[in-house]
Amino acid sequence: MKFFIRTFGCQMNLNESEIMAGLLINDGFEWTENPDEADIIIINSCSVREKAENKMYGAIGGYGKLKEKNKNLIIGIGGCSAEKERDALLDRFKKIDFVFGTRNVIDISNLVKRAMKGERFADFSDKLNEVNYSIPKRPFSKHHAWITIIYGCNKYCTYCIVPYTRGFEKSRPIDDIINEVEEYNKNGFKEITFLGQNVDSYGKDFGDKKPKLDLLIQKSAQFDSIKRIWFMTSYPSDITDSLIDTIAKEKKAAKYIHLPVQSGSNRILKSMNRRYTKEQFIDLVYKIQKEIPEVTISSDIITGFPSETEKDFEETVDLIKKCRFERINIAEYSPREGTVAHKYFEDNVPKHIKNKRLQYIMNLQKKINLEENEKYLGKTLSIIQEGKAGKNNTYMGRTINNKLIIFQSQEKLNGSFLKVKVNKVSPGPLYGEIIEIINNI
Ligand code: SAH
Ligand code: F3S
Repeated sequence: MKFFIRTFGCQMNLNESEIMAGLLINDGFEWTENPDEADIIIINSCSVREKAENKMYGAIGGYGKLKEKNKNLIIGIGGCSAEKERDALLDRFKKIDFVFGTRNVIDISNLVKRAMKGERFADFSDKLNEVNYSIPKRPFSKHHAWITIIYGCNKYCTYCIVPYTRGFEKSRPIDDIINEVEEYNKNGFKEITFLGQNVDSYGKDFGDKKPKLDLLIQKSAQFDSIKRIWFMTSYPSDITDSLIDTIAKEKKAAKYIHLPVQSGSNRILKSMNRRYTKEQFIDLVYKIQKEIPEVTISSDIITGFPSETEKDFEETVDLIKKCRFERINIAEYSPREGTVAHKYFEDNVPKHIKNKRLQYIMNLQKKINLEENEKYLGKTLSIIQEGKAGKNNTYMGRTINNKLIIFQSQEKLNGSFLKVKVNKVSPGPLYGEIIEIINNI
């Protein structure tokens, strides 16, 4: 029996798809990249914005058609949209066999077997207590592993559906995570990324209520094979001095922080229920840049949040100019049913204004990126090769501060440390050539 998994959304979904794939393979199912030859199709959905959700509905329609050829095909939907829509998905899409939640991913084999017996059902049980390091996974990379360290989010930003679809924060026990890092170390993995909606909260739900991401980084750095430790996403006002210090001092800690700001207007930040001001955010960025000189910082911004004026938007532009992010994920505000903003704030910024502001930020960011990237021209960077970047033997790799570089190389060097000289830059990646292959540093 062959299964196919389609993943939408964030890295947590990707990680959960790796876990589902591992569990199904362990139970004798066979993985396929081709939905046409699958007996089981699982859609891991995202509900963060309407666009993502619509893409997913399109996919359900497409895969549903495959049932005309293969009557025994089983279709299951998990992830955040499933959590949000629950039984309604079964009512709306007759071709779906089962829906499941964000907290019972590790039950996937049982869910599939129930569907194979002819049951049509929704199951949203909470199995997070049963998650542990020994659960099989099928990592999509052979040298870089995702490790979810904290589930859920307690922040309740007024626009965001995630606290409703992923529930309250729950940290995995530190020993369990370290056991998982040890397994990856044994298997020769070089990079790990700790994942969570808010990784800075990791450990706050334990007895002493202290955040422990710093400790986790320090403990993971002891493993020989593990050379780089990444983490995301950070919540600005939760970043501790001790974490900044750990990133600065620990050689293996990636010098990169994803720090979503959302807006530069204090009025909008308040209305979003973000717990910092523009000034506090900029001070934090300056502090991080001072303590970790080679750091790069990326961010998320929403344009056209309810009641956002031109003046509010100018505050955001001013913040971007001051922070000079490495990258920005920009999205137009998308009202999500069930959130405070959807219920109480009118979606009153016209679509064309949302889009105009988004384009403005994209162009500004491009200019900043090009200026920053030009500083790298002629420099030699230490990178780990990640994989193919396109056709004609072009490969990509990353520095420890997340600069992406493209160069000519070979498959066998995936996962290797290389020295690459930058000979061309763009607002996106850097381009270069390999100067030296160093496997051990
Ligand atoms: N803690 C996670 C948040 C997940 S949502 C993180 O910071 O990555 C990821 C991003 O999607 C948010 O930072 C926000 O910029 C964007 N987003 C969330 N809800 C949105 C909405 N209703 N409309 C537009 N963008 C949204
Ligand atoms: Fe969403 Fe805010 Fe949490 S953006 S995931 S509620 S930090």
